[in-house]
Amino acid sequence: MYDFKIAAADKATLYRDLASALDGLVAGEPDPVANMANAAALIWETLPDLNWCGFYRNVGGELVVGPFQGRPACIRIKFGDGVCGAAAATLQAQRVDDVHAFPGHIACDAASRSELVVPIVGGDGNLLAVLDLDSPEPARFDAEDEAGCVRLAEVLARALD
Ligand code: SME
Repeated sequence: MYDFKIAAADKATLYRDLASALDGLVAGEPDPVANMANAAALIWETLPDLNWCGFYRNVGGELVVGPFQGRPACIRIKFGDGVCGAAAATLQAQRVDDVHAFPGHIACDAASRSELVVPIVGGDGNLLAVLDLDSPEPARFDAEDEAGCVRLAEVLARALD
């Protein structure tokens, strides 16, 4: 049984503890679906105010939904489309305070108001997947959340490559 109790006073500590827990959770497991599934569950359980948390995988140059927590979501997203597609096309994290103001935002859950998408890039520079977090709170994600999730993506890149 895994029983991670991550309760930190500040975000820097929260993400440090979350990255450490994630590292332990995926250690020694080569199956990428298993690792993404447990990662989605751990992040969902740890970070407050999310309504969707999970992965879109790079399948032949198209994003295809992977393991997640939350409501059923759109299945395929082209590179360049929406927030996830922007992260995939640029290999840059996308932090959106107001999804209604993001051109081409893809609404999978009408409750979503803000979003953070971080690319997971393999050792040879190829996109493996994106980590996508949605929140019903406007401007839920700040620079510390972005830096923390980039750190999670680095842990996952090693586990999924
Ligand atoms: N909103 C995303 C689509 C995926 S859902 O949020 C799960 C986007 O615009 O790419």
